[in-house]
Order: sequence, then C-alpha cells, then structure tokens
Amino acid sequence: MNKNNLYNLLVILLILNVSCKEAISNDFAGNTNSIDNKVADLLAKMTLEEKIGQMNQYNGFWDVTGPKPAAGDAAKKYDHLKKGYVGSMLNVRGVKEVRAVQKVAVEETRLGIPLIIGFDVIHGYKTLSPIPLAEAASWDLEAIKKSAQVAAKESAAAGINWTFAPMVDISRDARWGRVMEGAGEDPYLGSKIAVARIHGFQGDDLASHETIAACAKHWAGYGFAEAGRDYNTVDIGTSTLNNIIFPPFKAATDAGVKTFMNSFNELNGIPATGNVYLQRDILKGKWGFDGFVVSDWGSMNEMIAHGYAKDRKHAAELSAIAGSDMDMESYAYVDELANLVREGKVKESLIDDAVTRILKVKFELGLFDDPYKYCNEDYEKEVTGSPAIHEAVLDVAKKSIVLLKNENQLLPLKKEGQHIALIGALAADKTSPLGSWRIAADDNTAVSVLEGLQKYTGNKLTYAKGADLAIGKAEFAIELKINTEDTSEFPEAIAAAKKADVVVMVLGEHGFQSGEARSRTDLNLPGVQQELLEAIYKVNKNIVLVLNNGRPLTITWADTHIPAIVEAWHLGTQSGNAIAEVLYGDYNPSGKLPMSFPRHVGQVPIYYNYKNTGRPIIPAPNEVFWSHYIDESNDPLYAFGHGLSYTTFSYSNLVIDKVSNDTFKVSVDVKNTGSVTGKEVVQLYIQDLFASVTRPVKELKGFEMIELSPNKQETIHFNLTKDELGFFNNTGDFVLEPGDFKVYVGGSSKTVLESKFNIE
Ligand code: BGC
Repeated sequence: MNKNNLYNLLVILLILNVSCKEAISNDFAGNTNSIDNKVADLLAKMTLEEKIGQMNQYNGFWDVTGPKPAAGDAAKKYDHLKKGYVGSMLNVRGVKEVRAVQKVAVEETRLGIPLIIGFDVIHGYKTLSPIPLAEAASWDLEAIKKSAQVAAKESAAAGINWTFAPMVDISRDARWGRVMEGAGEDPYLGSKIAVARIHGFQGDDLASHETIAACAKHWAGYGFAEAGRDYNTVDIGTSTLNNIIFPPFKAATDAGVKTFMNSFNELNGIPATGNVYLQRDILKGKWGFDGFVVSDWGSMNEMIAHGYAKDRKHAAELSAIAGSDMDMESYAYVDELANLVREGKVKESLIDDAVTRILKVKFELGLFDDPYKYCNEDYEKEVTGSPAIHEAVLDVAKKSIVLLKNENQLLPLKKEGQHIALIGALAADKTSPLGSWRIAADDNTAVSVLEGLQKYTGNKLTYAKGADLAIGKAEFAIELKINTEDTSEFPEAIAAAKKADVVVMVLGEHGFQSGEARSRTDLNLPGVQQELLEAIYKVNKNIVLVLNNGRPLTITWADTHIPAIVEAWHLGTQSGNAIAEVLYGDYNPSGKLPMSFPRHVGQVPIYYNYKNTGRPIIPAPNEVFWSHYIDESNDPLYAFGHGLSYTTFSYSNLVIDKVSNDTFKVSVDVKNTGSVTGKEVVQLYIQDLFASVTRPVKELKGFEMIELSPNKQETIHFNLTKDELGFFNNTGDFVLEPGDFKVYVGGSSKTVLESKFNIE
C-alpha cells in the first residue's frame, strides 16, 4: 500500500469511527473552581506519558505545510492519538475531519482530553483577506482587526481552535519571501498591527465559538535571515534585538496572546528552539508570558543540522529545558522525553509547567466544556463565505492598495467613453491573488482584475494576456516555473494597446512566488514581464501599472517611465473588485507602504530607520569618502510610509508643548488641498540626536488616519511620553536619556515639517 492509500484508509477509519462511548462524563468540565485549579486537578491524574502527549503536536493526514512526513507516520500517529499521546493536531480542517480526530481524543483515550486544533489562518481561511504585508499597508487598525475577526469566525466554524498568526517578525529584506506574512520593517507599526490582529482573532472571550487562540511567531529573529535566504543564520546585536525585533512580541504578550511559536533560525549561535535566553529568560521570565510555546515544524530535530544537538534525544532535552512546550512534527518529545525524565536529564517540573500552560489554553477555549463546540456542519455551511465575510475582506482589500505614482491625474479612470486595454497574465488570474498561505481556499476563487473592471460597463474593455507569467500550474508545495522565454503572445497585446486610450497592465509576482522558502535574489518583475511592459510603452505611454506582489519590487524603470503605478499586492478573494473600485475612483486610495521599496536589490537591507554612520553626507562636491554607493543612490525608490491619494494634503503649524520633562504634546494642522474627499495617514517620527547607544535617524512614534473633504482642515494631536522617547540600551534596560530630540511630521517617512525639544 503506498503512503497515499494508507492515509486514505486512516482518514476513512477516523471519519467512520463509531466504536466510541457516546458522551464522556468529563470531571474537569464540571469543576467549578478556577481554571488554574482545574488544570492542577487534571495534571495530578496524568501519567508521565500522558503529560508528554499533551506536548506533542502532529500534522493531520491531509495537508502538509512542511517537509513531507515519512511513510508509516500515519499509522503511528493514529496509534498515538488513541493512547492519548497527542495534545494537538495541525492541518486538520473542516468539521468532518476535526470531529473525527477529536472523537478519538475525547472518547477513546483514558482521560478524554480534547485536542487543540491548529491551522495557518494567516490571512483568512476559505475567504481570503489581503496578505498581511498588504493589510499592514492600510495602517487601518480597525479594518485589520475586523479582517482577523472574520477569519477567526470562518475558521472556527470549520473546527479550528488556534491560528499560527500573527507573524510579527520585523524584516528589512525584501529578498526574504516571508515578508508577505508580516507587517513590514517598522517595530512601532508592527506592534500596533500585532495587537489589532490578536484582538481580532481572540476577541474578548476565547470561549466564544467565534474566536480562536492566536500565536505570535517566530520567536525570534527569523526576519533577519542572512542574505534574505529563508531559514538562514541570524547574527545580530543587542540593540537591534531589543529595539527592533522584540517590541512586537512584547506588545503581543501584553495584548494577551495565548501562544508563541519559536523559529527555525539560530540566533547568535543558538537555535531559537533550544534558546533558554529567549524562551525562559525573556519571554516567560522578564515578560511573564503565561501561555505556551510551540516549536516550528520539525525545528527540534533541525537543531541537529544546526550543529547544536547531537541527536534527536539531545534535541528533545535542549528544547524542554529551553521552554519549548509543544513539539510540532519532530516526534522528539513523544519518543524521547519520558526517558529523559527518568534519567534525570529533564526535570518533571518542567514537563508539568509546559502541560499546565497547554491545558490552560484548552480550558480557556472552552474545549473541556464542549470539545465539539466548533463542530457543527450546518453552522460551518452558513458561515463559510458568508456575505459579511466577503464585505469585510473587500473593505480591507481596498484600504490596502497604495497609489505609488499618479502623473497628470491619469487615475482615476474616466467611467465612460474610453477604450481600455487590460494586459497581463495576472489580470485574468483567479488564483494568484489569493497569495501564499491559502491552504483552505480553493483555486480560482478570487475575483480577477478583469472581472472587477468588467463591472464598469461605460468603457470598452479589451483583454490580452501578453505572456504567461508561470509555466504549469502553481501549487503550494512545489517550486513555480517562471516563463523567461515565451514572448509569442506579445503582438496581440501590442495591437490592443495601440487602439486603447489607456492601458492597464497587471504585472508582478504569482501568489506562490512569495511566502515560506520563496527567497529571491532578483527583485525585478519576473520572467518576460519587464520586456512586455517596455514593448507596450513603445506604442502607448498612457499606462497604469497595477502591481500584484508579495514583497517590495525594484520597479525603477517603471517609476521613470510609467505615469501611474498602483501597488495592489495579493489582495485575496475580493482582489479584482477592490482594484477596480480604486482605479475608477470609487475608493480613493489611502494605503501607505509598510516597507521601503529599493531602487536596486543591492541596496537591501534598506529601511527608513537606519543609523546615520560617521559619514552620512557628501562633504564636498566630487568627494568619494562618505557612506554611499558609487553606482546608485542611497535612497529607496519609494520610502516607508509613502502613498498618494486622488487628493492632496498640506501640513502646517507644527507645535510642541512641554507637559513635563518627559511628556510632550505635538499638534499639526492638516488640510485637504485637492478636489475630492480623501484619507491621510498623518505620521509622526522622532529622532534622539545623541544617546549612550546611537539612535536611528527617524523612528515612527505615532500615526493617525483622518478623512477630510476638500478645503477642510483638522488639527491632529499626538502624545510623546517616556514610552515613545526611551529606548533599550545594550544591557536590555529601557532608558530615557536627557538631550535634544527632533520631531518630524508628514504623510510619509520623507516628512515635511520638523521641530525640536529638549529633555533635561
Ligand atoms: C512555518 C510556520 C507554520 C508552520 C505550520 C512552518 O513551516 O514556518 O510559520 O505555522 O509551518 O504550518
């Protein structure tokens, strides 16, 4: 029997499993004591093996989001499930599948402890929101929270209790494919978004059937992989660790996130999974995190390849001591930990601590009260893809779009009397906009740009593909083959462009060109797309370039030549509708970049909050000895925070009031100086001019989204307190030092107003 057949048989066995007791009488559910007492009562009844079982997480029998399991694993998993040696499963989804595995855990094991079902609900479940990087571009915390809320509702209705999101890794490297999964390069914005998403997923009541537990990942440093290559070594200093990487994780802890996931990478020589400093000293010690930590997929075993553990038993020992509470797919705990305890190498108190943390979350989710509360097929049908969910994902999709350039007001498009040529394989693609991390969503379920534009019937619309982006079907677990040669369909597109008033070109990356293990060394438009763009430009210069991508791209040529550029990312299920509304001006774009766009890949890592260096500016004309490139500017193509609107805004009257020595009020007047109503994200940055540890040239410390009709002006107020003005020094202490500070305000990190104040 091959592996697939074996899997299928087990699936059938699981789903048809009827040999169980009808309803378990669960002592722990009826216990009226606090959750802590219930956990303690239960723990006292557990054997060592049962405890370790709670620390074991298996992938399900269906989807795989990591290296494929070995043959025979399925049988072992099923056996362990029946023995109560599994505390959690991932990639089990849909009420039918979840009920099947839950039934074994609850009705066939000695203690009947329910499983916690985890899944990568990264940007939605079946109905997809924009990829997280896109959502971050909305800077709209309410819309982001709402998007997480509907994702929680839809996935919970499919039996899921726990999402492996939000990813709160800060990254400055667009080569890294997983930038699509985070909130970009800034720790302040990243922290706010982390909190919004956690509140969205977890709600006010974790026991509600509409909420799921969240997971802050990947702890820590994963976004700083050397050379942007996924899983690569991370070696960074204390200042970056404390001030850039840690803050979103700390914010997640303070927001009550129930779980953390550690990371594949080593950090300064010690793999995160075996890292006592990260997990015990900082997270569970200094920050008092009382949830549990799950390892990343197989990351315990990977410590062997890292050269940190000598074998799997050693990996289990190091992981348990370091505070990794649950093992995802390494089989290290379930196979090795009991012996390690018996040999005295791992204290049973550490096991008890881990199990206590895991059981607590299960109680909080209400799984002991009703393990099947997430398992109602009628409700699943009613909720999946409901109009309210589509409405929420469309709303955040519109808000995620960033208008990068708009010369001569080419946008918004006129609604009548125009001939529009729509060009690009991505324009008609109904799968790529779903982005990476879309395990539960079906192919061909996104609204394409073609479909979105077809709803506006006042213009003539002609579609021509121009060229295929990829060869063959794109799949989650398979490397995508890009078309680098075939230009045979160019002529049709060129002919269409010749006859058009305006050409809309949808170019960029396929949804599966970013995400995990999708690092790139080249950030240009992939395949023959740049060639296509230049060929069309030769016959019609009225081009609106719509980008679909999961990371910043180096579109320097386009910026010089193309009059209008719209960053539309991978926007999820409602992609085409959102893009059409923006192109036609039914939604006035309000997004701002959460990551700098480089001019050239050689500038990467490039980020707005850099340090000045000792030679920041050219000392005299034609001098060479300053910090620069001889072949490219230091500046990004588009700065962090950049994004235009169909209207314009002016900034004036920046005032700083000193409330006390460490508290300041900042106000600024913002006016809509254009002709349509629009939204603006007013951004406030500070610079600590000298400190015992050098500070960046600018740091975002406040932002507010406002909506103004033409000629209307509003005064925006910000507070700067110790929290915004201080920083972590190299011993990890948060300090506020006296000295001079600058304040900058504007509509991007290239701010327009500045002023100064002093702390005595
Ligand atoms: C990823 C995690 C993910 C896990 C489970 C890993 O490969 O790094 O972020 O949650 O797989 O799918």
